[in-house]
Amino acid sequence: MAVETGRVNLELRPIVPDELAAYERADEYGFGIRYDADDDRHAWSGAELDRTVAVFEGDEIVATGRNYSLDLTLPGGAVIPTSAVSWISVRPTHRRRGILTRVMTYLLEEGAQRGENVSMLTASEGGIYARFGYGVATRVLAVEMARNTIAFAAPVQRGRVRMIEPEESLKIAPELFDRVRLQRTGAVSRPAVWWLDAWGQKEFVKYRFDVVYEVDGRVEGFAIYGVDGTWANGVPDRTVAVHDLVAATPEAEAALWQHLCGIDLTNRVTHSVVAPDTELPWRLRDSRQVRTTALRDWLWVRPVDVPGLLGLRRYASAERMVLEVRDDMRPDGAAAGRFLLEGGPDGATCARTEATPDLVLDVGALGSISLGGITASVLARADQVEEQTPGALAAADRMFAADRAPFAFTWF
Ligand SMILES: CC(C)(COP(=O)(O)OP(=O)(O)OC[C@H]1O[C@@H](n2cnc3c(N)ncnc32)[C@H](O)[C@@H]1OP(=O)(O)O)[C@@H](O)C(=O)NCCC(=O)NCCS
Repeated sequence: MAVETGRVNLELRPIVPDELAAYERADEYGFGIRYDADDDRHAWSGAELDRTVAVFEGDEIVATGRNYSLDLTLPGGAVIPTSAVSWISVRPTHRRRGILTRVMTYLLEEGAQRGENVSMLTASEGGIYARFGYGVATRVLAVEMARNTIAFAAPVQRGRVRMIEPEESLKIAPELFDRVRLQRTGAVSRPAVWWLDAWGQKEFVKYRFDVVYEVDGRVEGFAIYGVDGTWANGVPDRTVAVHDLVAATPEAEAALWQHLCGIDLTNRVTHSVVAPDTELPWRLRDSRQVRTTALRDWLWVRPVDVPGLLGLRRYASAERMVLEVRDDMRPDGAAAGRFLLEGGPDGATCARTEATPDLVLDVGALGSISLGGITASVLARADQVEEQTPGALAAADRMFAADRAPFAFTWF
């Protein structure tokens, strides 16, 4: 696809294997980083090359983007294939000329042609993607605890925490993660190459430790953490920084936190990817000691086909409503128009209609409420949802509610 942007001709197309090094170099320029030549991350960058897009100016790649094929767990347990947007970057010399807009248009079309009903992403900055129809669907807490203030009210007595090396972790963690993510609304799958990239990099943290929690030999959870800080004049000032904590049961989660909060020669414990409805504070004698240092967006969801998304999830309460969805970017696409949604705990139908709408909203606002993490009434107070029929907002809040705060786990 050749497009005219400014004064130069640009070509957008997938890369071929020989172009991978140039594509990675373009990403280095875009993000202002350098990849370590020895890292295993090339497995992740080299995956699904047919779903990449590079913007060529002559022979040079000046911008990158791609869709990964990742799965998303919806309320009720349906797991759907999505276009997971990643590697978005434009050279610093080529910004604010509309190149990202071309890339996003290309990627949305690429996913739609494959029949994927949702595009989703995790964003480097919060101000970039609303204009393309993405809405914040899941959020995370960052927490910090001073170790000497932490006491568990009823410590877990069963099972055992076992320390393992990263090589063993890479064999154990993916299987446990798959069990957990199929049960958790908002969870995003992690293909084998994701693990190599995220936790395979040799220098990702200087002092890395991996633990699993086992009951009767069965793995119920794992945590990956780093220990960093100073130890001057014999006085430690060191932090246990949790990078990943995945648990199949509340007990496993508690046991892992107990381990992390009980490590000698460390002073504090931090984790920046904690579910907003974490039970951790309520495990402690003093809940206030879990200090929230941030509440931020994590997964952004962009409906591409409204019936294909809303018809597949289940709903907390049986309701019926007409939604009018505006999609300025793709006004003729499968997300724009009026839809009659009838759904409940056992399933749903969603189809185009001519009927008068009960709620009117942009496609990004629909993305935000689609997993139950943000309510329609909050967005209405922010003028992002219009209630046309009295009571429709309350009905939408009841209907779209999820059993737990949606949690994505995966950065991509
Ligand atoms: C973010 C980035 C991809 C934008 O690329 P770009 O080609 O300059 O974007 P465009 O010119 O297509 O911009 C489209 C619109 O988005 C706006 N926009 C672009 N980047 C923005 C940002 N970081 N914050 C807020 N708005 C932004 C532009 O102002 C423009 O608005 P307009 O249509 O009202 O004029 C580029 O700045 C970049 O590579 N940044 C570093 C890497 C990065 O953060 N990538 C995103 C990873 S998730």
